[in-house]
This record gives sequence, structure tokens and C-alpha cells, in this order.
Amino acid sequence: MPDAIPTMPPALAALLSRSSVPPRLMRDPAPDQAALDLAVAAALRAPDHGGLRPARFIFVSGTARQALGEMMAASLARREPQTPPERLDIERAKPLRAPLVVAVGAAIRHDRPGVPPWEQEASVAASTMNFLNALDALGFGTVWLSSGALRDPAVKQALGFAETDTLLGWVYVGTPAPERPTPRTVDVQGVARHWVPGA
Ligand SMILES: Cc1cc2nc3c(=O)[nH]c(=O)nc-3n(C[C@H](O)[C@H](O)[C@H](O)COP(=O)(O)O)c2cc1C
Repeated sequence: MPDAIPTMPPALAALLSRSSVPPRLMRDPAPDQAALDLAVAAALRAPDHGGLRPARFIFVSGTARQALGEMMAASLARREPQTPPERLDIERAKPLRAPLVVAVGAAIRHDRPGVPPWEQEASVAASTMNFLNALDALGFGTVWLSSGALRDPAVKQALGFAETDTLLGWVYVGTPAPERPTPRTVDVQGVARHWVPGA
């Protein structure tokens, strides 16, 4: 830490200590509605060009996770018809690993040429990071995962998205088991530099 920063601001300490929790280390309970509302409020503090509010968080809990698992397995079978049944069973069981799965999407506005889709998706990615940080700060475990189902029009439609919207991921949420991994150390080397014109 630079000398000019005498004490670590708590908000920065929280950012530096966040880590993902693998779904197999997630337990009950999931965050209650008040905690989820706070996390969504934090998500909405992300930069948002034009104030379009593109972020959507779809909560899947309880028996709805089984329906999501069936949908994911059906999607995999459609996309890769040769998939063996055992692999489909794994896909089907995925949402059951955590008490809450959140489908995160960008409801894309196409009538705002000044804010192209990639900016709206970037805003939702920033929102998702705030969402993860908020839940982590509240003591919950999270991990942001992807899968081919995110680009499946049938999955999008079932979750209430238009075909032109973008699903950015599945955020698994739960209470972390005590053996959750410690945050990986970060190495800033080579990631940031000052631009020297012409150099
Ligand atoms: C858009 C996105 C999709 C991701 N999808 C996966 C995934 O499908 N599987 C996976 O193991 N990690 C995935 N990750 C990475 C994890 O969320 C996580 O960052 C990684 O396990 C490292 O853990 P950490 O966040 O504690 O450093 C994804 C991350 C992002 C941003």
C-alpha cells in the first residue's frame, strides 16, 4: 500500500479480499429478500450510460432449480445431441448445488445508437461484480459461472428474456462452508502501465 494511504479503507479491504466459492462448498441458507435487495441496489450503482438500467437478476431457488436443471440438460442435448446420458445427468444436477442460482442478463435496448449493445453488456458485467461484492460483504458465497445454455434462445425465452438480450452468466449463491478457499493472490505486474506516446 502506498505511504500516502495510512489506513486501508474498509471498502477497499473488502474488494481485495473477495473470492469465489465453488458450488460444492455452498450450503443453506441463501440470502433473504432484504439481503438480495441490498445486493441488487449495489448492482445498480454500476456505471450505466444513458441510465438504461439494462441489468436483470432472475432468482432461481427451491424446486425451480430442478426445472432449471431440466432446461439446462435439454439445452445441452439440443446443442450436442451425442452427449451421453451421464453427462446430461450432471448438467441436470448443477443448479441443485447451491440454494440460489441467479441468471444475470442484459435487457438490450436497440433504439439507442449512442449506447451500443456492448456498452449495455459492459454495464451489466459491472453490475454483476457489484452484486458479487455486496453478497460477499454480507457473508455469502458466490461464483459467476457460464455455460452454453446462456446463448440458447429457448433458455432465454423461458427466463423471460428476448432473443436479442444477452445472458451474462449464472451466479451461484449460498452460505460458504468453512473450508472455502482463501482468495488467490493478485499480481499487478504487467497489467497496468502509463502510456508514453510514441514509445
Ligand atoms: C463471465 C464469467 C464466466 C465465468 N464462467 C466460469 C465457468 O463456467 N467455470 C469456472 O470455473 N469459472 C468461471 N468463471 C470464473 C469464476 O467466476 C471465478 O472468477 C474463478 O473461479 C476464480 O475465482 P476468484 O473469483 O476467487 O478469483 C467465470 C467468470 C466470468 C467473469
